[in-house]
Amino acid sequence: MVKVHLRQINKDNLTSCLSLQVSENQKNLVATTAQSLAQAYVDPNLYPLAIYDTAACGYEQPSVPMLGFTMYELFAGVGFIMRLMIDYKYQRQGYGRATMLEMIRRLKLCPDVEIIATSYCKENQAAANLYQSLGFREWGISYTISHPTEVYVKLEEFP
Ligand SMILES: CC(C)(COP(=O)(O)OP(=O)(O)OC[C@H]1O[C@@H](n2cnc3c(N)ncnc32)[C@H](O)[C@@H]1OP(=O)(O)O)[C@@H](O)C(=O)NCCC(=O)NCCS
Repeated sequence: MVKVHLRQINKDNLTSCLSLQVSENQKNLVATTAQSLAQAYVDPNLYPLAIYDTAACGYEQPSVPMLGFTMYELFAGVGFIMRLMIDYKYQRQGYGRATMLEMIRRLKLCPDVEIIATSYCKENQAAANLYQSLGFREWGISYTISHPTEVYVKLEEFP
């Protein structure tokens, strides 16, 4: 099974992070990494991370490419997986699922996290399939129920 290594974005890997691309027809489904990094710069509750294959673990300068980007938010008892994108060149190889599993592992370690949740655009069938298969189900919190464009889901088997 594919495994990922997540690490912080710094001056060494920033250019790779800004170069990550999704397919043309996915561009409306996720913010650019530049937008996400700008948000994280002004919001201390946001944690942006670069995604590598697990082969990068232990190396200060990984020789394997950056595969994607993810970002979580900690707020009001919720660990919210706010961004997930795998570069178009590395999609459908198991890295999206492996990243979600690693994010869930990390969020379960945070003492403040009582709910693990995420959201996706209504038309994003790939995300819907992925989150459903990992055990995410509709999150019935009031402000999410009638959201016009997003579906909010939370991990059912947690805590
Ligand atoms: C969604 C995304 C992160 C999935 O990453 P990935 O590495 O390609 O996914 P994986 O190979 O790990 O596949 C995991 C599951 O996702 C679902 N999935 C992934 N791509 C899919 C596609 N094109 N169509 C339908 N289901 C898909 C499947 O359920 C798949 O499981 P399976 O291989 O057993 O069928 C990736 O397509 C992406 O970056 N999309 C653009 C950005 C985006 O939509 N992000 C989510 C925002 S909420």
